[in-house]
Amino acid sequence: MDKKLFIETLGCAMNVRDSEHMIAELTDKEGYSLTKDAKEADLILINTCSVREKPVHKLFSEIGAFNKIKKDDAKIGVCGCTASHLGEEILKKAPSVSFVLGARNVSKITKAIKEEKFVDVDIDYDESEYAFGEFRSSLYKVYINISIGCDKSCTYCIVPHTRGDEISIPPSIILAEVKKAVQRGAKEIFLLGQNVNNYGKRFSDKSIKSIDFSDLLEQVSEIDGVERIRFTSPHPLHMDDKFLKVFATNPKICKSMHMPLQSGSSRVLARMKRGYTKEWFLDRAMKLRDMVPDVHISTDIIVAFPGESEEDFLDTLDVVKKVRFEQMFSFKYSPRPLTKASEFKDQIPNEIGSARLKELQELHTTILDEISANQNQRVFEVLFEELKSGGMIAGRSDNGFLVQAKGSESLLGKFAKVKITNPKRMVLYGEIIE
Ligand code: SAH
Ligand code: SF4
Ligand code: F3S
Repeated sequence: MDKKLFIETLGCAMNVRDSEHMIAELTDKEGYSLTKDAKEADLILINTCSVREKPVHKLFSEIGAFNKIKKDDAKIGVCGCTASHLGEEILKKAPSVSFVLGARNVSKITKAIKEEKFVDVDIDYDESEYAFGEFRSSLYKVYINISIGCDKSCTYCIVPHTRGDEISIPPSIILAEVKKAVQRGAKEIFLLGQNVNNYGKRFSDKSIKSIDFSDLLEQVSEIDGVERIRFTSPHPLHMDDKFLKVFATNPKICKSMHMPLQSGSSRVLARMKRGYTKEWFLDRAMKLRDMVPDVHISTDIIVAFPGESEEDFLDTLDVVKKVRFEQMFSFKYSPRPLTKASEFKDQIPNEIGSARLKELQELHTTILDEISANQNQRVFEVLFEELKSGGMIAGRSDNGFLVQAKGSESLLGKFAKVKITNPKRMVLYGEIIE
């Protein structure tokens, strides 16, 4: 009998890829097919994120909601980063959960569904050479893991505790995955890791010869059929000249760079253990703008990190004014278990955090409106990926702007030139010209 799988994926692109891995295992080996309706599912998986506190709180009410609507014999499994850090506790707090599988243990999904109250959250487990089956949410844009875990210890961040130490996936596996994806119609290769430009520091197979992220980018770009390469997340500390040169000169690498600033204050950056200063960040960002005039720079910023003074916050605003990020993800600091910063004594009151977040977002909105307006009448090459309502189709320009135009299904997975006629803050609307 056909068994149905419902999967909810929270968090980052790494989780999206982990969900794809689990779907591949369950459809290839266990005869499941996907459903969008949790009520008819035989297995409900929640692939969780733990990076901030709110989604973790929500998890237990969500489990309760699924438990109410699910079929009597359906199982609920909790996977991902919250599974990694809460482990057994999830089974104790939510007895309706059948198994708990950490972010580093997704390859054990077929085992987890067969055993009673299975828990595996071992962060030393090495999945870097595990061969997964094939499942892709998008045929055109394909996520490929290049490393697992993170070797940094940013003092606010729980990820090294949920995903473990960093291990690079052997280049032979990555290149084979890229070739396979291209043969199946992929146009855009999206390389994934917590700190992609630290690639190549440690392989489980010691005989692999030295390779860094810039070399890997060049090798991926040499594969026939690869048209676009994107990656996330690079770390500003590792943006050396070699990396910037490959980024700027390789025509297949999309001209959109994520530069997670976190804070503009060198004092706060030191307490965050980010390893760079305000000056280094500005130097790299300005060099990038010089080398690639059309570059699109996105960022992540945390406000109200413990001890952040008004002056520190002004430094963050100053960097935002100088770099004029094309996209900004901003968060109020959220204390996380197992992290150093959660023990710092100088936590910032919530109202100050909210006020700073508002001020930062208002500043960025003004910048974004100017950036968007400047795109009017420009022509971008867009890879179309998604149908929208009202006969619209959406995709991204090489440099990362979200673009929509009138168009039909036949354009999915294809490139077209779009002239922008109505630029909005989040989406540039335009007309296909060829
Ligand atoms: N490896 C990536 C970050 C992954 S977490 C990098 O270094 O860029 C994604 C983002 O969540 C981070 O960039 C940070 O801005 C935010 N974040 C992480 N921990 C947080 C916390 N404790 N409170 C608020 N935001 C946090
Ligand atoms: Fe977290 Fe820092 Fe690692 Fe990014 S680099 S995942 S912020 S510890
Ligand atoms: Fe969240 Fe884990 Fe990604 S904590 S952001 S799902 S690495």
